[in-house]
Amino acid sequence: MSGLNTLLERAIQVRADLLGRLQAEGTDCWRVFHGVAEGRPGLAVDRYGPLLLVQLFHGDLEPEDLHALEGLAEGMGLRLVLWHRGQGRGAAECHGRRRIEEVDFGLTCCEEGQRFAIAQRSPGLDPWLFLDFRAARRWLRAHVPAEASVLNLFAYTCSAGVSAARQGAEVWNVDFGGWCLEIGSRNRELNGLDPERFHFWREDVFPILWQLSGKGVRGRAAQRPYLRVEPRLFDVVILDPPTLARSPFGKVDLVADYPAMLKPCLLALRPGGRILATNHAAGVDREAWEQVLRRTAEKAGRELLALEFLAPEEDFPSPDGQPPLKIAVLSAG
Ligand SMILES: C[S@@+](CC[C@H](N)C(=O)[O-])C[C@H]1O[C@@H](n2cnc3c(N)ncnc32)[C@H](O)[C@@H]1O
Repeated sequence: MSGLNTLLERAIQVRADLLGRLQAEGTDCWRVFHGVAEGRPGLAVDRYGPLLLVQLFHGDLEPEDLHALEGLAEGMGLRLVLWHRGQGRGAAECHGRRRIEEVDFGLTCCEEGQRFAIAQRSPGLDPWLFLDFRAARRWLRAHVPAEASVLNLFAYTCSAGVSAARQGAEVWNVDFGGWCLEIGSRNRELNGLDPERFHFWREDVFPILWQLSGKGVRGRAAQRPYLRVEPRLFDVVILDPPTLARSPFGKVDLVADYPAMLKPCLLALRPGGRILATNHAAGVDREAWEQVLRRTAEKAGRELLALEFLAPEEDFPSPDGQPPLKIAVLSAG
């Protein structure tokens, strides 16, 4: 196995063109080293503005690996931050998770000139900006016009919502995570977006989607308290769910039941509108997922006017041409 120093040098060479473009467009966050595809599974190294964030998903770092990473951080003029995310470590020990009141809100990174909050320590497990999703945020900035209404489901820190609002669109961000939406509010401020046109619905996605799409909340779910919203149609829906998650209202399972998420999105979409949808499940290949998308549109009675796929950018290489993150843009009549 090559030493980490050699692998890091190779990764930097491979990204030379991308880094030139990122710098020119005002982006200072990217995946420096994607270990799973570049020779060190379990290790990911990201630049986020002033931080070099190293995530170790299993195992431990050898002293010479740590030395290589310290040298890299020093050479790039960045602060090295190490998150151990391995199994067997408690959540708190994992990377020194912090309550939201204790998080330093001062740090930011930039993507295409938009600013996003980042953290050395977080109440959650993940960084606040997912770098493999850059291709989707880039599409949103370029393609969502000022007059559009946008529904951002599973909004997390609202980075997709902020990107969609670049040209002035009105955005509704939905997530049941309170602290995530607090970061979303910070991201709104950082980009000077109008609070009257950037909304937060802190709620489970299921009851919101059922109500928006006109189906309503039925059965036992209706006995629970939930945020009431009126049915309405959107020009753009962003559907970027976790692969597997349970809530009192339902189950997100992108392998077994993608239509449970996609169908109500289609029903909440204005004719001619677009859905930016993702599937992170590594076990689902692009062709199989495409069939699911097509069948779901048909069953929902919506003609697919166009379907295109966005590939993650070069800092997320996938030697087999099957990146785990699949991103589709559907246009429905
Ligand atoms: C992988 S993140 C989504 C990433 C996000 N779309 C982005 O652009 O960065 C998953 C998010 O889904 C939220 N979530 C999971 N299940 C949910 C549900 N049933 N209702 C609302 N939010 C949910 C979590 O709180 C978390 O913020």
